[in-house]
Amino acid sequence: MVRFLVKLMSLEIIQKELGYTRHVISECLRCFKPTREKTQKTFAEELSSSFNQKQKSINPKFFYDQKGSYLFKKICTLPEYYISRTEAGLLKQLDKKLPQYLNGNFRLVELGSGSSTKTRILIDILEKSQKHIEYFPIDISNILTESCKELQNDYKNLHITGIIDDYESALELIKNYDNMKNLIVFLGSSFGNYDSNIGLQFLQKINSLMKNDDLFLIGLDLVKDETVLEHAYNDSQGITAQFNLNVLSRINSELGANFDVNKFVHYSVYNKKQSRIEMYLRSLEKQIVNIPKADLVLEVKKDELIHTENSFKFTISQIKEMSAMSNFQIQDIWCDEKRYFGLILLSKNN
Ligand code: AVI
Repeated sequence: MVRFLVKLMSLEIIQKELGYTRHVISECLRCFKPTREKTQKTFAEELSSSFNQKQKSINPKFFYDQKGSYLFKKICTLPEYYISRTEAGLLKQLDKKLPQYLNGNFRLVELGSGSSTKTRILIDILEKSQKHIEYFPIDISNILTESCKELQNDYKNLHITGIIDDYESALELIKNYDNMKNLIVFLGSSFGNYDSNIGLQFLQKINSLMKNDDLFLIGLDLVKDETVLEHAYNDSQGITAQFNLNVLSRINSELGANFDVNKFVHYSVYNKKQSRIEMYLRSLEKQIVNIPKADLVLEVKKDELIHTENSFKFTISQIKEMSAMSNFQIQDIWCDEKRYFGLILLSKNN
């Protein structure tokens, strides 16, 4: 009874002070949505500033509309895109390796609603030692509740609480939610899409939002032979090209623009000095594009490149350095045989 009242009170505090409303979708599926007004820039505002720079660019977060998310799922199954299957293979092996770090019950917190295959592997591991599993996926989009329904059907003792918000605000909510330990996971080398200084700030922020006993598991793509990397981002079926070009169609449909998608081509290259894949859209001719809802008339030269994504690759020594700089202690690093990918388990340096 006392525990129930404490929980009820903390829920009220969360709703009032942290500015969330709780939506009950079913008995084991709930979600928190922020009640506060978001001060984030709109798609149009972001584009009008990034298209006005000398190097035109589109933030990679805009890849993921419905079609883009579908294409990304397809990328993850491509023979050349080793990232997803290598990471899934490593996660399966955690079956024997992770439990030694899990003293007591842990809640699974996932940054991004993730691929349900990988989430399932982790839930299966937790299920071996815990009766009730709590899963808190965090995603900025409502897609989250949809993808959770299937999980819910397959795991009857799983309690899902989605948080529809940015990672940092959601982790703040979780920190104040209760005393349960959290296993926070950030998979698929999504971290590699942040530029270096932003990435470091992000790690520092995650660290500051963790409780002392929380764990953080991050999946990072490693530096490797450049032909392997270039094939992964320039696949033979042209799915990555469709994924890249789709962002222009998104601008057309959401902002009333008139990009002729046939007048651009996908271009990706490995920048060895920066250890990153760079993705661009190259204009096949000189053209003028109207983007009415961003109040923009865009002039693009023949062969001009619009930057759409960086995907950083890491060495183990860089990983150690970043961990130390963000006050993390490395508990373990697990790599596949080819050393293509790494899963890094971190704890707070208390
Ligand atoms: C989501 N992110 C980790 C992918 C990557 O590999 O950087 C996005 C992607 N871009 C092209 N292919 C996949």
